[in-house]
Amino acid sequence: MTETKKLFIKSYGCQMNVYDSERMAEALGAAGYESVGSAEEADMVLLNTCHIREKAAEKVYSDLGRLRPLKGAKPDLKIGVAGCVAQAEGEEILRRMPLVDLVVGPQSYHRLPAMAEAVAGGARAVDTDFPEEDKFEHLPERPRRSIGPTAFLTVQEGCDKFCAFCVVPYTRGAEVSRPEARLISEAEGLVDKGAKEITLLGQNVNAWHGGQAGLGGLIRRLAKIEGLERIRYTTSHPNDMDDDLIAAHGEVAELMPYLHLPVQSGSDRILKAMARKHTAEAYLRLVEKIRAARPDILLTSDFIVGFPGETEADFAATLALIEAVGYGAAFSFKYSARPGTPAAEKPGVDPAEADERLQRLQALITRQQRAAQEAMVGRETSVLFEKPGRMAGQITGKSEHLQAVHAEAPERLIGEIARVRITRADPNSLAGTVVDPA
Ligand code: SAH
Ligand code: SF4
Ligand code: F3S
Repeated sequence: MTETKKLFIKSYGCQMNVYDSERMAEALGAAGYESVGSAEEADMVLLNTCHIREKAAEKVYSDLGRLRPLKGAKPDLKIGVAGCVAQAEGEEILRRMPLVDLVVGPQSYHRLPAMAEAVAGGARAVDTDFPEEDKFEHLPERPRRSIGPTAFLTVQEGCDKFCAFCVVPYTRGAEVSRPEARLISEAEGLVDKGAKEITLLGQNVNAWHGGQAGLGGLIRRLAKIEGLERIRYTTSHPNDMDDDLIAAHGEVAELMPYLHLPVQSGSDRILKAMARKHTAEAYLRLVEKIRAARPDILLTSDFIVGFPGETEADFAATLALIEAVGYGAAFSFKYSARPGTPAAEKPGVDPAEADERLQRLQALITRQQRAAQEAMVGRETSVLFEKPGRMAGQITGKSEHLQAVHAEAPERLIGEIARVRITRADPNSLAGTVVDPA
């Protein structure tokens, strides 16, 4: 038996990175690493990074800089960079940051145990291959202790859409769908280990085509798993919302009434320049169809403001689209020029102008979010409780619409779904009382 080493992983970026971080911890766990809660306690620190915007990528370098004193005090500490910055910058990270021992891309992290061994021997290791083999087939089975009431399951990776602003097709590679039979057995395993809710993940999750039917078919199949009570999926591209998937929202009780459907802009001119390949009108028609299938669905989105060439009229069209849809929440970002993407060649919008637009957009979204939260007061919803709340006697979980809900209830309800009457709406959470602790 080798001595247990301590591992700390910090995850940046999207939920797929969160999932990957769990699987990395498990892969290294099988090689004798135990997860700890801070870099200070660790023998190995892994930063699982995001390259989506300049700020996200630069944060990695400032965090690495902050690890310098720790490595000075503890020369045996190994530092690794994983994820999308690792994929995009590879060896360059080793050149720029002498304290980094290991660089591993999102498609090769099943090789981490071997890399960790090489690094322990004093080498520096880089692996940013898109290997032939499927990493999921080379990862250990998921241990029970890492599965909570809600679990992620990556069903699809990569992106072939090449939106003009986006690095994901370069950092994650081409679209690959995991085969249906594998996903069913992994989902059964998750439920067996205590998961009641599974969120299917993919950079373009609704482009999944690993079975006879599309994602709607996979959802219908997963809904048959005994004990799986809730299904969600993210992130979807509007052009891949096919009729069967839309119909599933009306027909599959386990499929939660929530959909993140990024649109980025409400201006046809900008949508075209972004290579989103649909119009604002087409998006609005799609929203109508989805709401016809599931009237109470809560929609969220992503927006980019200040894309090259965006005029005040284009921005006004985005605000008009937001007014027309009525979102429950949204992420909005100032455009960030990313190296290697087509849009990066074009002159940007005046930064002060972009800031001002972002504020106006966020104010509108905040109003809509508040309205959606307040609309819940007095209503009953089901909540899957996940953990103790911040206040004593409270537990917290998510509504069907993915809103955070706090309730004064016994801790034994953690991991359970209960009916809750909502009594108060705060900007980012709801409070309620359990009416049926079944
Ligand atoms: N696959 C998802 C998005 C992944 S990136 C989709 O197609 O919707 C998450 C969000 O980051 C995007 O929806 C977009 O709003 C934002 N984003 C991506 N690239 C960006 C850039 N260069 N500048 C600013 N925001 C960006
Ligand atoms: Fe990026 Fe567009 Fe692919 Fe989403 S669909 S990951 S925004 S290229
Ligand atoms: Fe970021 Fe990579 Fe996800 S760039 S958003 S971590 S796919």
